[in-house]
Amino acid sequence: MTEADARPAPRSPYEALGGAATFRAIVDRFYDLMESEPSYGPLRAMHGDDLAPMREALASFLGGWAGGPREWFDANPGRCMFSVHGGFAIDAETANQWADAMARAIAESDIADRDLAAQLSDRLTGMARGMARNVAA
Ligand code: HEM
Repeated sequence: MTEADARPAPRSPYEALGGAATFRAIVDRFYDLMESEPSYGPLRAMHGDDLAPMREALASFLGGWAGGPREWFDANPGRCMFSVHGGFAIDAETANQWADAMARAIAESDIADRDLAAQLSDRLTGMARGMARNVAA
């Protein structure tokens, strides 16, 4: 056995963040905030009445994106997250609401590795801001 064989396999961010339970908790808190905070009203209004399918879809997407089970990607072959949002009028205001609610959900989560939690928050903030376009109000 070589030294390399003896090393434990590197953990994916998905595992290091706490796996499915963590992603489900973050996503549930994210949509709870979206539903309860008046300041996220414009973001909430863009979504359909029933957020239950979104809770499933976002938790599944984020888990796969972080290196976990790839259910969302297998069910959506070749589908890009930016084109998913191309039909929505996302401006700086709604992108910031998304990023803010997500950052709060992650900050409140019980992820043990707070550096990794901060990296997750930064990446998702960047993705959300990248989706904002100059759309007519
Ligand atoms: C920039 C701010 C964003 C806004 C305003 C926004 C809004 C939306 C809306 C309105 C939908 C459709 C909801 C429905 O059908 O009821 C949606 C779907 C979705 N969004 Fe976003 N989104 C944003 C950013 C993001 C980001 C950054 C991600 C991923 C990191 C993401 C992941 C998803 C996923 C996974 C779906 C479901 C796609 C599917 O499986 O059909 N969104 N989003």
